[in-house]
Amino acid sequence: MFQRQALCGAPYPGTNSATNMASSENKTARTLADLGVTQPTQVSALFLEVRTRFESDSLLARDESSWKHFRDAWLGRKSGVLTQITDHWLKTATPEMKRVVGAALNELRAHVESQIEERRKAIESGTQETAAARDRFDLSLPGVIRPLGSHHLIGQVFQQIEDIFFSIGFSVVEGPEIETPYYNFEALNIPEFHPVRDDMDTFYLDLPKGAAQPLLLRTHTSPMQIRTMEKRQPPVRVIVPGKVYRRDNPDATHSFIFHQVEGLAVDQDITFCDFTGTIEYFVKQFFGAGVKTRFRPSYFPFTEPSVEFDVSCIFCGGSGSAAGGGTCSKCKGSGWIELFGAGMVDPAVYGFVKYDAKKVSGFAFGMGIDRLAMLKYGIDDIQVFFQNDVRFLRQFP
Ligand code: DAH
Repeated sequence: MFQRQALCGAPYPGTNSATNMASSENKTARTLADLGVTQPTQVSALFLEVRTRFESDSLLARDESSWKHFRDAWLGRKSGVLTQITDHWLKTATPEMKRVVGAALNELRAHVESQIEERRKAIESGTQETAAARDRFDLSLPGVIRPLGSHHLIGQVFQQIEDIFFSIGFSVVEGPEIETPYYNFEALNIPEFHPVRDDMDTFYLDLPKGAAQPLLLRTHTSPMQIRTMEKRQPPVRVIVPGKVYRRDNPDATHSFIFHQVEGLAVDQDITFCDFTGTIEYFVKQFFGAGVKTRFRPSYFPFTEPSVEFDVSCIFCGGSGSAAGGGTCSKCKGSGWIELFGAGMVDPAVYGFVKYDAKKVSGFAFGMGIDRLAMLKYGIDDIQVFFQNDVRFLRQFP
C-alpha cells in the first residue's frame, strides 16, 4: 500500500517506514558535523542514500493525490527534503565541504525536479487513457443476450384448454393436491373396498399416530367436483387443471405424477346431447376441425352412463395405415385414439353434496393433459415433460 506517512512526514528520511535504510533516521534534519561527515566520499554516500530513497518514493506516486504528496515531501519549500538538505547540510558546511555538498545538491535537485515532472506526465496520460478506454463504445459489438424463458409445454396446453372452455362459459377452479379419502374416493361413489381403488393405489402421507384421518396425494382432479358442488349451487360450469399422483412405474406412457383437467357442468335439464356437443366442440377446437369423434360405453363409479371418448388417429388421419406402408403404430391400425373418460354425473354423487338429483343433471370429464400434449405435438415419451431438458423445452417457445 501507499506509504503516505513516509511521503508526508516532514523530515526526510522518516523512521516510520519499513523500507527506510537502516542508518537514515532523520539525517537531513541534522548537520554534517552532527553526522560526523567530514570527507567528500561520506558526502557522496549520504547523497546516494537520499537518491535511493527518492527512487523508491517515486514508485508510490501513482495518482494525482499521491503525486502531490510526493512532490511536497521532496520539493516543499518549508520542509521538503531538498530544503532540509540546503538548511542542514549546505548552509552549515565548512567552506571546503560547501563546494562538494553544493554540487551534489544541484545534481540531486535537477534529478528530483525532472523525475517529479516525468511522474506527473505519466500519471496524467495514464488517467486520460483510462478515461478514453472507459468512454469508448464499440457499437458494432453484439448486445448481451439475456435468455428468456417460456411456459412449459404442459402449461401451454393447460392455457389452450382453459381458453377453449372460457369461450363457452366455463370458469377455472383449483384445489388441494393433498386430499382426504372422502373427497378422493367416497364422495365420488367409490366406497372403501371398491375395486377401482386398486387402479388408484397411491401415496398416503406418513401422519403422526392419532391423526384425525388419513391423507393422500390426489389420484385425480375429480375430488374438486365435490368441493365445488359443496360450495356452489347450480348452475355450475367449471374446469379444474392440476397435478395428480399415482403409484406407477415410470415408462414412456406412465409417470407417478401427471396432469389432468377435470370438467363439470351441472344445471337443470342438461342432456347427453349437451354433453357430447360440448366435448366434440372442445376436441375440434383443440386438434382441428378435421378430427372425427366417437363415444364408447365405459364405467366410472361417479358417472352414469360413462363413456370413453376417442378421436380419429391424428397421425394416420384415421386410416390405420402408416405413411410408408404397414399399420399405424400410434393407433395400432384401429384408426382411433382413446382420449379420456367422461359421462353424466351419477345421481348418487349429488347425494353427497346435497343437490336434489331429481331437479339437476350434468356431465363430467377428466382428461390427461400429458397424453393430449403428446398426441398434439407428436411426443412419444411422457418423461420428457418432467426431465426439463432445455433442448426439449426450447422446441416449444
Ligand atoms: N377421474 C378419472 C380418472 O382419473 C377420469 C374421469 C373419468 C373423470 C370420467 C371424470 C369422468 O370426471 O366423468 O381416471
